[in-house]
Amino acid sequence: MKKSFLAVILAILMTVVFIGCTKPKNEEGSRPIVIQGAMDVETENMVKQLKNVEEITYGGWKFWKGTIDEFPVVVAKTEIGMTNAAASTLLAIEKFNPRAIINQGTSGGHDPALHRCDIVIGKKAVNFGSFRSEHSDYGQGIHSENWIPMDINVNVNGEMKEVKEFEGDAQLIKAAKSVANVYNKGKVVEGVIGSADQWNRELDRIKWINEKYGTSVEEMETASAAQIAKTYNVPFLGIRILSNSEVHNEDYDRNSGEYCQQFVVEVTKTLIKEYSK
Ligand code: 5AD
Repeated sequence: MKKSFLAVILAILMTVVFIGCTKPKNEEGSRPIVIQGAMDVETENMVKQLKNVEEITYGGWKFWKGTIDEFPVVVAKTEIGMTNAAASTLLAIEKFNPRAIINQGTSGGHDPALHRCDIVIGKKAVNFGSFRSEHSDYGQGIHSENWIPMDINVNVNGEMKEVKEFEGDAQLIKAAKSVANVYNKGKVVEGVIGSADQWNRELDRIKWINEKYGTSVEEMETASAAQIAKTYNVPFLGIRILSNSEVHNEDYDRNSGEYCQQFVVEVTKTLIKEYSK
């Protein structure tokens, strides 16, 4: 009697241990948040926030893998420009399987309501380098004001789609907005981040891009990273600080890259709290 009772207990215990071992690990918990910046001045401060940091290089792209508040975080230096941003994002997704990606850094103001050191939370990202023109003959000149925005081809869940712009993830936007009140170097607004391999200083062109694409700011990476994230269904958000505004004749602020990183670390910590619930 006693022996069979012990055997039953043993069998139950073994079953529990077996189930415990075969149950898949909490995969979500081990997936990092990736935070991207193009240059040292847009990544250094975030790297300093990482504990147990390991530097990893794939091809020409650097990643720093560590933890913030004991949660896995990878800082990625994308390098400058659309192609670099796409490559770095693809590597980040394939190598680290991130739960979310935040692309952040400096930008130039398009919206006259914004000034240097204001921060734009990317409700949308748009590739304003994507356009076509109608035919005109030799000698007719270049009329960029007539160029027509062109959709981007993206593979979404195995289906090719034509996309005008990339929406920021709602949960990430909410996290970013929830810490807006801790930022004291300028205002924090939701807006449209415009990306292209361009640095525009002609005010008429800036005004045209702003009106055609609804851009709040311009920079060179966000829409590209967003496109790759969308292909993989990874939640994505762009966060950009105005380092300069041609519109207001405001020159490059050398500290703006650091301010943006500090803000993004706060967003990341908020997100970590959400993910740890
Ligand atoms: N136009 C384009 N890119 C800008 N950047 C900052 N300000 C601007 C601007 N006005 C960012 C880009 C790129 C680097 C040159 O600086 O995203 O990474």
